[in-house]
Amino acid sequence: MKTFLVLHGINLNMFGKRDPKQYGTITLAEIDARLAALGKELGVGVETFQTNHEAAMVERIHQAFRDNVAGVVINAGAWTHYSYGIRDALAILTVPIAEVHMSNVHAREPFRHESVISEIVRGQIAGFGVDSYLLGLRAVVAAA
Ligand code: DQA
Repeated sequence: MKTFLVLHGINLNMFGKRDPKQYGTITLAEIDARLAALGKELGVGVETFQTNHEAAMVERIHQAFRDNVAGVVINAGAWTHYSYGIRDALAILTVPIAEVHMSNVHAREPFRHESVISEIVRGQIAGFGVDSYLLGLRAVVAAA
């Protein structure tokens, strides 16, 4: 069975508590449960990982390379907008990557319009809440 990895970056453990206007009230555990259910439906394995530590995220991406995961979905949180370290780690992977955001980053503050990872991922999905993740998973499964 192919395995796909879903990565949640900095501050995303606070979904459900932070800024409900932007992110709703769904928790990260609920998002992960929805992803697991979709993985079952699609017949693929889904692993999820969240960290607030940039180095830990980079190490997890290196591990994904060694494990030969079939595809990656990433919501890098604020790292999206400035982390060349995470961009370079993702660029090592040759499998399809979907960049996802719960909120429509392009309709928010100007600093959120820039993504340093968009250039090296297959595509970006933003603004659909938890469905951004689910659409991202469907997209990488279809592309893998
Ligand atoms: C986010 C958007 C980012 O700008 C922000 O820093 C986040 C969450 C989203 O899911 O909408 O932490 O990636």
